[in-house]
Amino acid sequence: MNILKPVTGAAVACLMSGAAFAQDYTIGFSQVGSEGDWRPAFSKNMRDEAGSYGVDLKFANAQGKQEEQLRAVRAFIAQGVDAIIIAPVVVTGWEDVLEEAADAEIPVFLVDRDVDVDDKSLYVSRISADFNLEGKLAGSWLATESLGNCQIVEMQGTTGSAPALERKGGFEAVIDQFPAMEIVATQSGDFTTEGGKKVMEAFIKSTDNLDGICAAFAHNDNMQLGAIQAMKEAGLKPGEDLLMVSVDYVPAIVDAMEAGEANASVELRSAVAEFIYPVVTDYIDNPTELDKWIVIPSDLHTAD
Ligand code: AHR
Repeated sequence: MNILKPVTGAAVACLMSGAAFAQDYTIGFSQVGSEGDWRPAFSKNMRDEAGSYGVDLKFANAQGKQEEQLRAVRAFIAQGVDAIIIAPVVVTGWEDVLEEAADAEIPVFLVDRDVDVDDKSLYVSRISADFNLEGKLAGSWLATESLGNCQIVEMQGTTGSAPALERKGGFEAVIDQFPAMEIVATQSGDFTTEGGKKVMEAFIKSTDNLDGICAAFAHNDNMQLGAIQAMKEAGLKPGEDLLMVSVDYVPAIVDAMEAGEANASVELRSAVAEFIYPVVTDYIDNPTELDKWIVIPSDLHTAD
């Protein structure tokens, strides 16, 4: 583990001149993949900002496969990095590799997504948005807009992932309070535009052109963008025939909102390196107990 390093004259000179300082921390980051628009923006932010926090970032893209993540984390352990950051694809299956990191005395931080482990001491902290709250914000907006009367089709994110489980949970916790609000069809679109398009095509068929449906809730914007395409191809008007609410607030959904084809999106911030690196590097310098969850705020945006 990297212990607090003295600030050398060269580093002071760098700091005084505003130049980037030497890379003091070697950190492995196992990223989910590059699905959708939000995740590449998050990866770019982590890579772009690493240097300004003195971080030499070892970045591994798991292409959506947990087995790739396990391989990457084991490689980081073998390299003896100062800390490991994981954005886990799914919540299960993490105990063994986290124990291996603990045996090697390498601190692990979760970012973005959660894991489901009994022993929470296996990671230092999770630094992320509250996905359950995001689902609640989407559900509350829809309850207000529909006056509590709405048949809903839902596009779920990757099966077994924290955002799919928690956004669904938060959304349902709100709509369950309204007897005339109900999810009548739900399927996973795996957080991709193509997945959302396929799922909406299936909903259009199974509900006789969305007859009686009032809203589409998608666990991310990219699936909603695919759903918008599918509806337009079927001669339907997203944003008018259906209320369209999703999560991420990526630039393409803002365009869709401006075009009247999407109505609301809960922002999941992608520029979050500024929340993550200071926590991780401070911990490397001075390992003290941290809150198990450091929450990054989420905000609702509407077309209005
Ligand atoms: O884990 C966050 C989710 O993962 C984002 O909402 C989605 O776009 C991404 O695939």
